[in-house]
Amino acid sequence: MLCIRCSRLKPFPTNSKWFSTCRRIQNSPKNKCLEYSNDANVRAIAADNFALLENFITEGEESSLIREIDTKWKRLKYQKGHWDNAIEDYRELEISSWSKPNAAIIQRVQEVAFEQGDTKNNLIHVLDLAEHGFINPHVDSVRFCGRVIAGLSLLSPCVMKYTHKDDASVWFQALLQRRSLYIMKDRVRYDFKHEILRNERSIFKNEIIPKFRRVSVLCRSQAIGSENERPGSLFQPITLNENT
Ligand code: OGA
Ligand code: MN
Repeated sequence: MLCIRCSRLKPFPTNSKWFSTCRRIQNSPKNKCLEYSNDANVRAIAADNFALLENFITEGEESSLIREIDTKWKRLKYQKGHWDNAIEDYRELEISSWSKPNAAIIQRVQEVAFEQGDTKNNLIHVLDLAEHGFINPHVDSVRFCGRVIAGLSLLSPCVMKYTHKDDASVWFQALLQRRSLYIMKDRVRYDFKHEILRNERSIFKNEIIPKFRRVSVLCRSQAIGSENERPGSLFQPITLNENT
């Protein structure tokens, strides 16, 4: 697990070395941003396959991203339900071309999240959840998304819960603060469903975490063998049977 406060003085450590650094601090009592079920293995799985970097971007960078994103919605209203009911009260966009400063932020995310051998998908998925919006448990389709998913959280905190696809008693959850970056990969990406809790259930370590409008910027690696870059509606179904 990892909850590292980013130091802006040092370059971000990259790739798998960075994950092993995170692992060393997984049991630190200072680790306030993850909560686990009692399962013996779940901490180790999260340590190796999930990372959370708080304050990954500055307030100025958050405003810059939101400014650009908010020019793109046009008249797109929040929608009540996705076709597979995976999501409520949301709107979404895919953006492939960003202003220079925002492109630099996206690049920083991709440099931290992806390892050698990963192909980045340059269509960036932007998801806007209204205050009462939420995302039901799902696994991103393996047809449209590779082994790594990295998400910047903007505007509001929220709780993201991961539940093992075959055993609901095995779970962990992360408190995603605004301006943080999370990275899920491999076992967490394939073996756990992820969800953003609705306001009525938005509780982390017994504390209510009110969620307001929250925008996420999601960078995914490409699915192996996928020829087109389009993730499609992101979420396509819980594709548990497709998992390898
Ligand atoms: C998704 C998803 C999480 C987020 O779009 O598939 O899980 O952080 N989003 O918005
Ligand atoms: Mn997802």
